[in-house]
Amino acid sequence: MPASNVTVVTHPLVQHKLTLMRDAGTASSKFRILLREIGLLLTYEICRDLETELVEITTPLETYMAPRLEGKKLCFISILRAGNGLVDGMLDLVPSARVGHIGLYRDPRSLVPIEYYMKLPDQIEERLCICVDPMLATGNSAVAAVHRLKDAGAKRIKFVCLLAAPAGIENFSAAHPDVPILTASIDRGLNDHAYIVPGLGDAGDRMYGTK
Ligand code: URA
Repeated sequence: MPASNVTVVTHPLVQHKLTLMRDAGTASSKFRILLREIGLLLTYEICRDLETELVEITTPLETYMAPRLEGKKLCFISILRAGNGLVDGMLDLVPSARVGHIGLYRDPRSLVPIEYYMKLPDQIEERLCICVDPMLATGNSAVAAVHRLKDAGAKRIKFVCLLAAPAGIENFSAAHPDVPILTASIDRGLNDHAYIVPGLGDAGDRMYGTK
């Protein structure tokens, strides 16, 4: 049973594409395309409750009060490197969004996430920030990235991933109960190397053909 701040997108198109991505035989070229397509579909869901305002426009026939998105442009925040693959699809749907990047690596001894890169758009405090990483495994990187965003002033944050492990959800929700999570699947758990199982492997390696 997902926690109340977690939404699982069960749409058949998302699930079908995810199945193709999980398959170890799917090539990197296809994997990237699928990730991008799911990124677009998840964005449609996460934007469901965006505020709109009425503006007067003139159609070829008459003037009309029509809805448009209210407020500052959205900001997608990619947790490097795999977040980029989902963000590409998100930008297909919301091309005017701003994009930030946060790079973290795990210190091998302390296992604490260390920031090596962060670049965010201005006026972050006025934007809805959608933080993106395909894999919510232990949740440590996502927790750290959202702390960085909050330190930078972000006030409205959502988190989007492709797969989540129950432990990652628990860790993330405990640290950031105010940040809703949207995912395409909650998988069974983590293996001894903190990979999500059944999962899809290392998302970055699958995207870029690295090992
Ligand atoms: N990161 C990945 O890319 N895959 C996992 O299963 C866990 C973390």
